[in-house]
Amino acid sequence: MTQIRPLVAGNWKMNGLKCAASEVLAIRDRLSTAEFNPEADVLICPPVTLIATLSDLIADTSISLGGQDCHGEISGAHTGDISAEMLADAGASAVIVGHSERRTDHGERDKDIYLKTLAVHRAGLMAIICIGETEAERRAGQTLDVVKRQLHGSLPTSALVINTVIAYEPIWAIGTGLTPTVDDIAEVHGMIRQELAAIVDSASAEQMRLLYGGSVKLSNAAELMAIENVNGALVGGASLQAESFLGIIAAYISDQT
Ligand code: PGA
Repeated sequence: MTQIRPLVAGNWKMNGLKCAASEVLAIRDRLSTAEFNPEADVLICPPVTLIATLSDLIADTSISLGGQDCHGEISGAHTGDISAEMLADAGASAVIVGHSERRTDHGERDKDIYLKTLAVHRAGLMAIICIGETEAERRAGQTLDVVKRQLHGSLPTSALVINTVIAYEPIWAIGTGLTPTVDDIAEVHGMIRQELAAIVDSASAEQMRLLYGGSVKLSNAAELMAIENVNGALVGGASLQAESFLGIIAAYISDQT
């Protein structure tokens, strides 16, 4: 089986003014040095206002940019919304869909995420589909059922390894400093890997990247990234500063012990 190339993605959420470009420049400069050569792809998802500017700064580098949401349609009378095509036009190559904050703040359901994922694919971009249980669901022992239901409801059967990534983000772990145990993450990721076989083609099921997200930080990145079927991270708070984001990316520098 071919090695899965991991992905470390930063989700800036509703943070970042023009001056935040300095963080991206710091990441760019570090990644261009010979000694900092991670075996992972690096993606930054800033607020949509910064995508075009940052895309000029990271041209000809290995860093990619992504949006944090998109509308399902190409264009039309949808005030305040952004289409996947617009994100592509601004310089994005990926879009996060179904983040729990979108599900909570905007009432997005699996069916919406499914349509947004198709829109991301239509625009030729990569979808990062977020799924994960609430604290109450975890306590009630429903984690595997909830995640499985979200996966089946959000992931189109046409999704491919090249255009889709799944991010498991337990809602109670987002921004709280709490993380599931290594065994708990391994169990959920193992289940996702298994379920993929019933949804997408077999090569994609085997190779699709499964990110873990929720309080990933410098101090736990190496341990979390070493878990079986964890092929990278979706990082919120710790992606806002170049130093901490680079520290997480460094989990994928092979001579690091
Ligand atoms: P966090 O957020 O790393 O700040 O917990 C992760 C996310 O919401 O993607």
